Amino acid sequence: MKVTVVGAGNVGATCADVIAHKELANEVVLVDIKENFAEGKSLDIWQTAPINMYDTRMTGSTNDYSKTANSDVVVITSGLPRKPGMSRDDLISTNAGIVKSVTENIIKHSPKAIIIIVSNPLDVMTYCAYLTAKIDSKRVFGMAGILDTARYRAFLAEALNCSPKDIQAVLMGGHGDTMVPLPRYTTVGGIPVTELISKEKLDAIIDRTKKGGGEIVNLLGTSAWYAPGAAAAQMVEAIVRDQKRIFPVCALLNGEYGLKNIYLGVPVKLGKNGIEEIIELKLNKEEKELLDASAKSVKEVMDVLDNMHVVAK
Ligand code: LAC
Repeated sequence: MKVTVVGAGNVGATCADVIAHKELANEVVLVDIKENFAEGKSLDIWQTAPINMYDTRMTGSTNDYSKTANSDVVVITSGLPRKPGMSRDDLISTNAGIVKSVTENIIKHSPKAIIIIVSNPLDVMTYCAYLTAKIDSKRVFGMAGILDTARYRAFLAEALNCSPKDIQAVLMGGHGDTMVPLPRYTTVGGIPVTELISKEKLDAIIDRTKKGGGEIVNLLGTSAWYAPGAAAAQMVEAIVRDQKRIFPVCALLNGEYGLKNIYLGVPVKLGKNGIEEIIELKLNKEEKELLDASAKSVKEVMDVLDNMHVVAK
């Protein structure tokens, strides 16, 4: 297996490190536009191999996509991160051009790759990569749901003073303030969360989850990387090990949930073919309204991208 990670910044380097550490591939290629940056990061990661006991080869490349040829999976993290006061949507004009050019290079050298987008604004950058790649949408999707769910699960584990391992949850919608955590589908060791926590506390956790990315931007002055990098690596693992895992993923909807031609977070089955199934939950009226509101807000940003004419439709 060969995995390429584009963007050797904090998220990309963390993702490559986790992939190598878990031996998810024989080779990981890290690419960056900044001279020698990916080379330096991959050399540093490679030097952890004798300590962490793995043999995944690390290759770094300054924008030479020939080194990425025939990758099985590609993770695109390129683009500017958020600064305090910025929403993810503020990044659209800069990051759309970057994601487009990276996707073109990737498809040229790895036409059969499965592509995972991590760049923000996530849902719209995934759409941008899909329009550019012109491949089946089962092979182009975005990472956000695992990250947002991880935040929700981590907050719940703290509030309940229990292991995060035992918290199962699904979260839908866009990667932004309109995301839709679903308490009805949240369990703790199989027990519905609503039996273990007050509505008031749960609502506060949901609210904190929605603003979870911004909380870190405010603390660090830039966006998060450990959890986003690990979340993308978990998607790579599900694909390269054909695990058929059920994760919330930003996927192209074609009638599911009554929505069409939109990239949005939904539960899917991930395996060697990419998205092997989109799972349709029976949402109640309130949940469906929240999902529709989230879809509306993602669609508005998709329209901004369409009107920029960066990529042909
Ligand atoms: C976050 C950024 C990566 O949610 O979108 O932390």
